[in-house]
Amino acid sequence: MAEEEAHREAKPTIRVSAICGSLRRASANRGLIRAAMELCKETTIAGMEVEDVDITGLPFVNTDLESNSTYPPAVEAFRKKILEADCVLFASPEYNYSIPAPLKNAIDWASRPPNVLADKPAAIVSAAGGSAGKRMQYHLRQVGVFLDIHFINKPEVFILAHQPPRKFDGDGNLIDPETKERLRELLLSLRAFTHRLGPS
Ligand SMILES: Cc1cc2nc3c(=O)[nH]c(=O)nc-3n(C[C@H](O)[C@H](O)[C@H](O)COP(=O)(O)O)c2cc1C
Repeated sequence: MAEEEAHREAKPTIRVSAICGSLRRASANRGLIRAAMELCKETTIAGMEVEDVDITGLPFVNTDLESNSTYPPAVEAFRKKILEADCVLFASPEYNYSIPAPLKNAIDWASRPPNVLADKPAAIVSAAGGSAGKRMQYHLRQVGVFLDIHFINKPEVFILAHQPPRKFDGDGNLIDPETKERLRELLLSLRAFTHRLGPS
């Protein structure tokens, strides 16, 4: 913990925009975002602040809704949060071997000019069914190639949401200490990478 205290004093706070790919009330992935927020509020991880960026109010991407790179108010608000963040945390299930539509829609809005995801360091965590989200994560990395998102390579955190030991309670809260530790390691890696890339 002394190391974390030293980090807090030495470096500016990193603002993390967290985007959840599930709109479900008791989403395990949103539970992961809440757990990340807690880890950063406690002394466990110094110098990081996580904001849960809500994507539920975004309309479907439609260029008819744009005019001269101005967007509907909900889209503008979403894009501003991403633009102002130092890095991004994606927490998402896998739907039919890929990225859930609400998350892809949010990314598509973020990509409209100017692309607010460009040059952002980012990390992915997935809680999903039998695949644990592996295919979703690799599809997301592929999208990131075009958008110039800089994903950390490791650790890769794939979570089997519905297999024992029980990792989430009925409200989607993370209750498994081992999974919490894996999430902590992911955040530490994102923190180090964000500092390495420098100010966005
Ligand atoms: C439409 C749909 C498609 C799904 N497809 C997959 C899949 O391809 N692979 C997988 O591992 N889980 C799949 N699942 C299961 C979800 O990833 C899993 O239930 C996850 O925990 C849901 O995340 P949440 O708790 O954050 O809502 C699918 C679920 C839905 C609703």
